Amino acid sequence: MLNGKKIVLGVTGGIAVYKAVELLRLFVKSGAEVHVIMTEAATKFVAPLTFQTLSGNPVHTDMFNLISEQEIGHISLADKADLFVIAPATANIIGKIAVGIADDLLTTTVMATKAPLLLAPAMNVNMYDNPIYQENEAKLRKLGYYFTGPVSGYLACGWDGKGKMMEPAEIFEEAVGVLTDKDMAGIKVLITAGPTLEAIDPVRFISNHSSGKMGYALAKVAKRRGAKVTLISGPVSLPEPSGINFISVKSAKDMEEAVTACCNNNDVIIKAAAVADYRPASISENKMKKGEDKIKIDLVKTPDILANLGKNRKLGQVLIGFAAETTDLINNARKKLEKKSLDLIVANDVTLPESGFNSDKNIVKLLFKDGTVEELPSMAKEQVAYKVLDAAIKLKAHSTL
Ligand code: CTP
Repeated sequence: MLNGKKIVLGVTGGIAVYKAVELLRLFVKSGAEVHVIMTEAATKFVAPLTFQTLSGNPVHTDMFNLISEQEIGHISLADKADLFVIAPATANIIGKIAVGIADDLLTTTVMATKAPLLLAPAMNVNMYDNPIYQENEAKLRKLGYYFTGPVSGYLACGWDGKGKMMEPAEIFEEAVGVLTDKDMAGIKVLITAGPTLEAIDPVRFISNHSSGKMGYALAKVAKRRGAKVTLISGPVSLPEPSGINFISVKSAKDMEEAVTACCNNNDVIIKAAAVADYRPASISENKMKKGEDKIKIDLVKTPDILANLGKNRKLGQVLIGFAAETTDLINNARKKLEKKSLDLIVANDVTLPESGFNSDKNIVKLLFKDGTVEELPSMAKEQVAYKVLDAAIKLKAHSTL
C-alpha cells in the first residue's frame, strides 16, 4: 500500500512515544521506507535504538551529527520525503511550526520540506483547550497541514479529557489517505456490510457467517479516495471506520429502512451485506422454553433490498451487488445481475479457502452487465475494494441510465 513511499516520522517528547513505535511498525509493514527524527525529549521516553531497529535506518536526533549529516542530511530528508508525520506532536512542536521556529533537527527539517505534513497531537486537556494552542492548530490547518486527533480519554497526567493521541492504526489510515489520489472526490457512495440478524425470541436469532470485512474495506478505501461514504452495517466485531457516515442496523427490515432513507442521495450503491433471505414469521415475546423434541419455526421472506433498488434507481446511479455462491458461480451470479438490474456483480465462491466470509482475502470475478468478466486472483479484501471501486468510477463516468 505504501510500497516505496518515503516517510519521515518525527517523534516529540510525550508519554505517547511508545505508540509511535507501533505506528512505525505499521508503516514498515506496508512497504514504506521510514526515517525517524526524534527530539531530545522524545529520547527520554523510548531509546532511539528501538526506532532504529524497527525502521532499519539510523535515527536522527542531532542537528550537528557529522556522520548522519554526511550520510543523509536534514535537507536531504526534507527533500526526499513523500510524507512527513509527527506523532506524538506536543503543543510545543505545533507552536514552533506555527510561528516558524527552526531550532533543532526536527523543526529545521519541517521548515525545509515541501512534503505534506500530518500531525497527531498529544497533550494535557488544558493545554489542548488553551486558546494559544487552538490558534496555532487553526493557523496550520488553514495553511494545509493535516491533523488527526487528539481524542478524549484518560490522560497520563491524570486528567480525563481531550488530548489523547489517536491510535496508531488510525494515524496510519490518515497517512495513507493523505497519500491517496482523491479520484472519488464528489462521489457519494452507499455501502452495506455484514450479516443481518433475525430475532426468534429475546435471546436467539438466525444469522450467517458474514464478518463485514469486505464492506468495511470498501468503505475505508472509498473514503481514502475522497468519496463521501455512508456505511450501513449489520452486527460485526470490526471497529467503526472514522470519517464516514455510519449507520448500525440489525435485521433485514432495519437495513431496508436505512437504505431506503439514503439511497436517493447516493451516486454509487454497493451491497456487500449478506442479508437474511428469511426471518421468523413472529418473534416470541419471551424466551422460548425447551419442550418437544422437534419444533418448527415458520419463516417468511425478507424484502430483497437490492432488487428493489434496481427497480427504483435514480438516473445515473450505479448499482453493484455481491453474489455469495457455493455452486455454479458464474451462472448464478449472472442471473442475480440480470434479475436485480445491476451494473456489476462481484461473484465469490465462498467454499474456496481464501475466499468469502471471515477471510482477510477474497477471490472474486467481476461480472459486468455488458457481458464482460474480469477474473481477479486471490488478494487482500482491501485490494479487491480498490478493483471494485475502480470499476465503480468507470461505470459512473459512463452511466446514462
Ligand atoms: N440482497 C439484498 N436483500 C436480500 C437478499 C440479498 O439486498 N434480501 C443482496 C445482497 O446484499 C447481495 C445480493 O443481493 O448484494 C445477492 O445476495 P445473495 O445472498 O448472494 O443472493 P440472494 O439474492 O439472496 O439469492 P440466494 O440466497 O438464493 O443465492
